[in-house]
Amino acid sequence: MGEHYFDAEPRSSSGSRPIKVSLPGRQIEMVTEGGVFSPKRLDPGTKVLLEGMGDLCGLPDAPIVDVGCGYGPIVAHLALTCPERRFWAVDVNARARQLCHTNMEMLGLADRVQVLSPQEIPAQPIAAMVSNPPIRVGKPALHELLEFWLSKVIAGGESWLVVQKHLGADSLKHWLTEQGWPTEKISSKKGYRLLRVGAAPGGSQRQPARSSSR
Ligand SMILES: C[S@@+](CC[C@H](N)C(=O)[O-])C[C@H]1O[C@@H](n2cnc3c(N)ncnc32)[C@H](O)[C@@H]1O
Repeated sequence: MGEHYFDAEPRSSSGSRPIKVSLPGRQIEMVTEGGVFSPKRLDPGTKVLLEGMGDLCGLPDAPIVDVGCGYGPIVAHLALTCPERRFWAVDVNARARQLCHTNMEMLGLADRVQVLSPQEIPAQPIAAMVSNPPIRVGKPALHELLEFWLSKVIAGGESWLVVQKHLGADSLKHWLTEQGWPTEKISSKKGYRLLRVGAAPGGSQRQPARSSSR
């Protein structure tokens, strides 16, 4: 079996290395390594997300979550942009979590960004989920992941996703709206759709339209 970027414990490694990451408005250095998603450069989908998403600094007070954080470019941008807020960075891949933690320390953000495995997620509502989600895990696993996180978003919160058009962005938008999360396509750029997902009426108190076991 080949190795995937979403493996829990990747085997291949060439050692960590620094890369320059151009975030909107600033360039930073981060460390990456083989066995995580897009280790050589900021993923073009992630770039579309960071350049096009709205300002989340004023959302209601609860953690903002980078779901599938990889080495941490999304949460780095968010935490540098909103210096008053707290974040969770979650990934199944242990190497990604380690790199993300190192990067948060290097950027002076470790006190506001908690790096967590899916087993460590507190039973607490959130203000937003931001993600370049792991589409390649397959539709059932992706839907379960999105249901879990979107159900935690409080009223007044919102979420942002970037998905490649040819990997089902339009049908995902349709499915999310059908489940009770009003979803808008904000932009379409370089083959990526940027989606804004509103909180369900009633926020995290609402029952999901379809039951899900995580
Ligand atoms: C498309 S990559 C995005 C990585 C990073 N955010 C970036 O933009 O470079 C998706 C990430 O989701 C992670 N992932 C897969 N399944 C997950 C799950 N159930 N919960 C959290 N993260 C998951 C993968 O390990 C991978 O790092």
